[in-house]
Amino acid sequence: MTSWQGHYEKCLVSAEEAVKYVNSGDRIAMGHACGYPQKLPAALAARAKNLENVEVIHRMAMGPVPYAEPGMEGRITHNSLFAGASTRQAIAEGRADYTPCFISEIPALFKGRLPLDVAMVTLSPPDGHGFCSLGVSVDYTMQAVQSARTVIAEINPNMPRTCGNSFVHVDEINYFVLSDLPVPVLEKSPIGAVEKEIGRYVASLVEDESTIQMGIGAIPDATLDSLKEKHDLGVHTEMFSDGVMELVEMGIINCRRKNLHPRKIIANFVMGSQKFYRWLDQNPLLEMHPEDYTNDPYVIAQNNNMVAVNSALQVDVMGQVAADTIGPYQFSGVGGQVDFIRGAARSKNGKSIIALPSTAAKGKISRITAVLDRGASVTTSRHDIDYVVTEYGIAELKGKTIRERMQALVSIAHPDFRNELCREIQSVYRKQ
Ligand code: COA
Repeated sequence: MTSWQGHYEKCLVSAEEAVKYVNSGDRIAMGHACGYPQKLPAALAARAKNLENVEVIHRMAMGPVPYAEPGMEGRITHNSLFAGASTRQAIAEGRADYTPCFISEIPALFKGRLPLDVAMVTLSPPDGHGFCSLGVSVDYTMQAVQSARTVIAEINPNMPRTCGNSFVHVDEINYFVLSDLPVPVLEKSPIGAVEKEIGRYVASLVEDESTIQMGIGAIPDATLDSLKEKHDLGVHTEMFSDGVMELVEMGIINCRRKNLHPRKIIANFVMGSQKFYRWLDQNPLLEMHPEDYTNDPYVIAQNNNMVAVNSALQVDVMGQVAADTIGPYQFSGVGGQVDFIRGAARSKNGKSIIALPSTAAKGKISRITAVLDRGASVTTSRHDIDYVVTEYGIAELKGKTIRERMQALVSIAHPDFRNELCREIQSVYRKQ
């Protein structure tokens, strides 16, 4: 038996035993999205009565977040780096916190200003050399493993072994908890007529041989559907899902014309179906990297013809984008939006697109507004904005004056709101 095999067998514990290594005052990083551990969060919450001032930091949790429930106050506090369905309410009610930060900078925070005591992550089982893959979630999780004093890993045979800079050695882990639960899946969002139209406009801006970044949801899925006539596309992204796999299988995405990492899809996390996870397993087309690499605007910029596609909740007529809050309510996070918009701006022949439906709340609210809602956070500034797309067309804003931007954005607002928008522009922006 090798030394790593001895270490692995000696340090196999139950989730309940593993969380006994958490002390009061500790900061714990949990794995992100579909790499969120599935046994450790409940075990940690069950131990809360013995703990004080523990902070649990992470982005999206694809699973229950029991330590953000009422009753945990003073024991465990969640610090969110990206709000999601399971954490929004706790943040809104003041039981959890939110820390604004660019995704490209999270690993540096773990190395410096937000030091970690414990990391709780999910890994594939070790191979014959003792290496486990971080699988669907390399993002900040790699840095969490490297920074934390104590690393606890759920070892799950359902976790795909993704290629790239995604491997950690058994020697880097302190305790192992076995799990055979399925990796959480992301259901596809339904694509309606509005998203289809937006997808068509976005696709009209994507040239053959471009390298694309896209997120998840109905608009990215509709856009990918509209790219089926393109040729030789590449991918350099923060994350991707089933839609990219489908375009690879159709031969549309092959990454052969990429000048940086040719013949490779570059990403830091993935979410999708079980079929998608099987496709990722040991697939040499995919190279996963930590997010301080994938999302570094200077790395993104090295891709020629980079097209970054992101979404928003609201855009004002100057081109300021609110993508992470609805008024003061923390809805999500900046994610990789600004990292990719800035990278694409510096890419040779690059462009960035904010694509959003023209209305929200079943057509009652215009998402193109004279001013952002009171308390809203500016996710992307008017200095960074390039194209905005709705189901009514494309507004090209870069290099345009405020007056030109107002005209362009009113023309892609929903027709029911255009007159009202013009009146508001007069009253807000023109000295009477
Ligand atoms: N006022 C009030 N409500 C609004 C609103 C507005 N301006 N805009 C949206 N909403 C409501 C919608 O009606 C919807 O409510 P419903 O679910 O009850 O219908 C809800 O908010 C979500 O809106 P939707 O447009 O469906 O959100 P989405 O799931 O498509 O996500 C973002 C859009 C902007 C939140 C998401 O893309 C994001 O988090 N972006 C920032 C991060 C990022 O860009 N990452 C890079 C790629 S990984």
